[in-house]
Amino acid sequence: MTGVKRNVAVLISGRGTNLRALIDSTTQDADHPARIALVLSNRAEAEGLEIAKAAGIETAVIPSKGKERAEFDAILDTVLRAKDIDYICLAGFMRLLTHGFVQAWYGRMINIHPSLLPAFKGTDVHARVIESGTRFTGCSVHFVSPEVDAGPIILQAVVPVPQEATAESIAAAVLEQEHALYPQALRLLAEGRLVIEGQRVRVTG
Ligand code: GRF
Repeated sequence: MTGVKRNVAVLISGRGTNLRALIDSTTQDADHPARIALVLSNRAEAEGLEIAKAAGIETAVIPSKGKERAEFDAILDTVLRAKDIDYICLAGFMRLLTHGFVQAWYGRMINIHPSLLPAFKGTDVHARVIESGTRFTGCSVHFVSPEVDAGPIILQAVVPVPQEATAESIAAAVLEQEHALYPQALRLLAEGRLVIEGQRVRVTG
């Protein structure tokens, strides 16, 4: 390994297939600029925690139920700083973050969303894609900004929507692209090659 690796925290709430893709990509290359140092969930039942444990990665659970957003985010921030985290990847993290937290981590926190943003923000994306009649969908990795699913876009991948598509078939096709796209975006981020210029992201080098 050459150089010091950047510490990444992956925040999850559920099954963790994107987490797995991020773990695989960072561990398969000894020279990768990042290491997943912590996997954190707001739900103790998140299946992704087992993926992290099996890979020997430290996990943490901060139960969000019954907590005010500000209280949750303050604990989260303390845990991340105590672990010397440089970057945050949201991977199916189903909890809204406060503006203060997002601003404190702006430029160092990214998310993956299963649509071609800025179209189809929010949840229940694939059913709305089909209803809309659009011929193409996909996924986007973006910097997290205070407005949900609206931050500067880093990378996107396109997936066609065939006539016979169902929400399930589109979800599967998009997920496959997500697993390739998210690791690419994390690598660019950890290499320090992403420059935010307003709403646009310039990839350098
Ligand atoms: C993915 O579809 C991602 O785009 C969205 O939540 C889902 C997480 O899936 N933000 P997984 O937990 O990574 O399998």
